[in-house]
Amino acid sequence: MLFIGIDLGTSAVKLLLMDETGKILKIVSREYPLYFPHPGWSEQNPEDWFEKTMEGLKELLSGQDRSRVRGISFGGQMHGLVVLDEQDRVIRPAILWNDGRTGKETDYLNNVIGKKILSRYTANIAFAGFTAPKILWMKENEPEQFRQIRKIMLPKDYLAYRLSGTFCTDYSDASGTLLLDVEHRCWSREMMEICGITQDQLPELFESWEPAGTLRKEAAEELGLSPEVKVIAGAGDNAAAAVGTGTVGPGGCNISLGTSGTLFISSDTFRVDENNGLHSFAHADGNYHLMGCMLSAASCNRWWMEEILRTKDYGREQKEITGLGENRVFWLPYLMGERSPHNDPDIRAAFIGMSMDTTREDMTLAVLEGVAFGLRDSLEVARSIGAAPERTEICGGGARSPLWRKIIASVMDLKVDLIESEEGPGYGAAILAAVGCGAYGSVKEAAEKLVKVTGTEEPDPALVKKYEEKYRKFRAFYPALKNLQKTELLTAPGRESRLQ
Ligand code: XUL
Repeated sequence: MLFIGIDLGTSAVKLLLMDETGKILKIVSREYPLYFPHPGWSEQNPEDWFEKTMEGLKELLSGQDRSRVRGISFGGQMHGLVVLDEQDRVIRPAILWNDGRTGKETDYLNNVIGKKILSRYTANIAFAGFTAPKILWMKENEPEQFRQIRKIMLPKDYLAYRLSGTFCTDYSDASGTLLLDVEHRCWSREMMEICGITQDQLPELFESWEPAGTLRKEAAEELGLSPEVKVIAGAGDNAAAAVGTGTVGPGGCNISLGTSGTLFISSDTFRVDENNGLHSFAHADGNYHLMGCMLSAASCNRWWMEEILRTKDYGREQKEITGLGENRVFWLPYLMGERSPHNDPDIRAAFIGMSMDTTREDMTLAVLEGVAFGLRDSLEVARSIGAAPERTEICGGGARSPLWRKIIASVMDLKVDLIESEEGPGYGAAILAAVGCGAYGSVKEAAEKLVKVTGTEEPDPALVKKYEEKYRKFRAFYPALKNLQKTELLTAPGRESRLQ
């Protein structure tokens, strides 16, 4: 039996073919554009996702025994707003998870409706990238398009819809809409009312491993697959990544170093911290998780390397770096504003502390360290509510860097376990497909059997001490930067009207 995991990311879609023993037979990836039509906005075309996914699927399947394929599932970038009209046409480009246009709507939800009430309805408060504020933004700013909306879905659900014809989502991804009552696993009537939408505009809810349908005849023919191939609901990319790194059951921890950076703590009970500092979402194993998300993680490094240093040779740049813990340069990683813990779409990034002897290596190291400190911010919130992991798994493109893993282990003071493959969301999606097709009895059973830890990066006590001191300084910089911004000396471009 073969299973396909589709990781619908922000820079590319990655497709992975796995057999029932968990062996990865092939990985294919296809990039698509990301648009920033205004500063702080972030959009993609759902049609690009579908086209590149179909292209990727064809390449993935070429030379393989297609008759062995049983199921397809997804791990998708979360929170994106995809809207379809009566003819199933996409009404406007998808508004993505790292889009910061909804400052006003987020303020309205958190301060007029109120955080306590939102938390009662959904277990979460509003963050600029969540789906509900975007619906309110459309209602206010694009009333004509808003009236045309017949279907509201998340990015990966668009793929499932095009492949199977089923209008579906799963609980983990739905948690990030701020429209789901996470504890009771149903759409929140109150939130629908607040957003001016009705339940028939929202997809049917499934557990992540449940089959939502089978391949449409046309899609099956185009791909040379049987129309019996099951389309399994899938999960938000972080929940899928957690499955792919074996982070299931109580107290597991996973760090994802992708475009975003997340700290994910799995739990078998539902909980919400008093200040909603971490997102309280459903997990793809049928349970729950807490999560902190920074908006720019590996994307900081990518920006620094490719846009500024104009190189793609990440390994070479990092090879020259020595002197961990001695760097006097700091990087504040707020290229797209920040989600956890600041909930501040307007803040912008900064280097601090350069002098005449600062080197290129110091700046590169500062970027890697700044991202680790940003993740540490979420870990501090987790620790403050008694979630105290001792070790973590790690996945995402950034996890391939031994230097970055070393920095993270000591900045977080966590043992960092390396998994055989860092393809978190894609591998997790393939595991969900395997469970949905009956190859395993549960997500937990499958993850325990299939995910293999190959080594551990231990925190270095001397470095932990040095980084502790540096983290204390890092924490002082955000309020200072915020103050500068309030004086409008550092207004984020495109935000002028809101800040006046
Ligand atoms: C999680 C989040 C990001 C996206 C990235 O809340 O917004 O991790 O899912 O794909």
